[in-house]
Amino acid sequence: MSTILVTGGAGRLGRSVVTVLAHAGHDVVSVDRVEVPGLPATQIVRELGDAASFREVFEAHQPDAVVHLAAIAVPFSAPDEVIYRTNTTLAFGVVEAAKQTGVGTVLIASSPTVIGYNAPDGWQPTFLPLDEDHPLAPWNAYSRAKVKIEEFVEEEVRAGTPLRLGVFRPCYVIAPEEWFGAPTQQGHTIEERLDDPALSAVSLFNYVDARDAGDFVLAWLAQPHAAPNGSVFFVGAGDSLVREPVPGALARFVPETAALADALGDTDPVFSSARAERLLGWSPRRSWRTEFAAESDESEEARESEATA
Ligand SMILES: NC(=O)c1ccc[n+]([C@@H]2O[C@H](COP(=O)([O-])OP(=O)(O)OC[C@H]3O[C@@H](n4cnc5c(N)ncnc54)[C@H](O)[C@@H]3O)[C@@H](O)[C@H]2O)c1
Repeated sequence: MSTILVTGGAGRLGRSVVTVLAHAGHDVVSVDRVEVPGLPATQIVRELGDAASFREVFEAHQPDAVVHLAAIAVPFSAPDEVIYRTNTTLAFGVVEAAKQTGVGTVLIASSPTVIGYNAPDGWQPTFLPLDEDHPLAPWNAYSRAKVKIEEFVEEEVRAGTPLRLGVFRPCYVIAPEEWFGAPTQQGHTIEERLDDPALSAVSLFNYVDARDAGDFVLAWLAQPHAAPNGSVFFVGAGDSLVREPVPGALARFVPETAALADALGDTDPVFSSARAERLLGWSPRRSWRTEFAAESDESEEARESEATA
């Protein structure tokens, strides 16, 4: 058992990451500007910012590893300058403070948006499915900050960092309660996203259950040396968040992808998590086809028992 400090542990992704790590037997410290009732962690409420703020919490809690999730997580939810400055400052601060305090291992959240697939002026994939070798084309403050963070990790490794570093790009995160009707990050329910494929087409139908992303974090922390230092991983579901066959849906909603879309099977994800599977033995266990259907079955059962009551 070790002590893992999760920044942003109260968030959509953080709550599941904290829960998975705690259930696996780790001591978890969540540092966030808000608290969540019932989170299986020591919760520290504080505003993180520069390296000094991270140093204080690292010195107080002496974590063996840090999972850095805290960020402005929604593109365009704040002025560009604020998103870029906040997200890069937080990531820079985490790495600097880890070096200064002897924390050995840091995993940082990036985003699939670094690929640039939803650029208003159009975007052309080089190949499908998209993997970690695909060229990047960020076009807004959020994705530019994530690219900067990935470059910063690369630079850190090149400079001979004493840290073990990793970066993951979780696909559109679905928290467990969202299978049961809670709004997703963009405010729509899962049912609305499935009923109107245009809503998910902007992110090429990518998604991941937050608990599966938590399992990825657990797998990475268990074997941080399994991949070259600073490695980047896509972390997505094993299928796409769309009811119709994926090649047709891509051709209909994202015509630039049509020429390459036939490389995909009818339910395939557009983003490949094969690297995580190959190097870490992680693969997603949950799909909307099981999780959302489970919700429908339960609703059905509830309706039937109400009708017979
Ligand atoms: N949700 C997604 O679909 C998605 C997809 C790709 C990448 N990501 C990345 O994953 C990470 C987590 O995303 P999320 O969806 O859980 O976001 P979220 O907004 O639900 O959670 C982020 C948490 O960080 C906290 N936080 C933010 N700034 C802070 C600060 N300065 N000091 C202390 N706490 C702070 C917030 O209070 C919040 O609880 C982010 O880095 C995000 O960019 C998320």
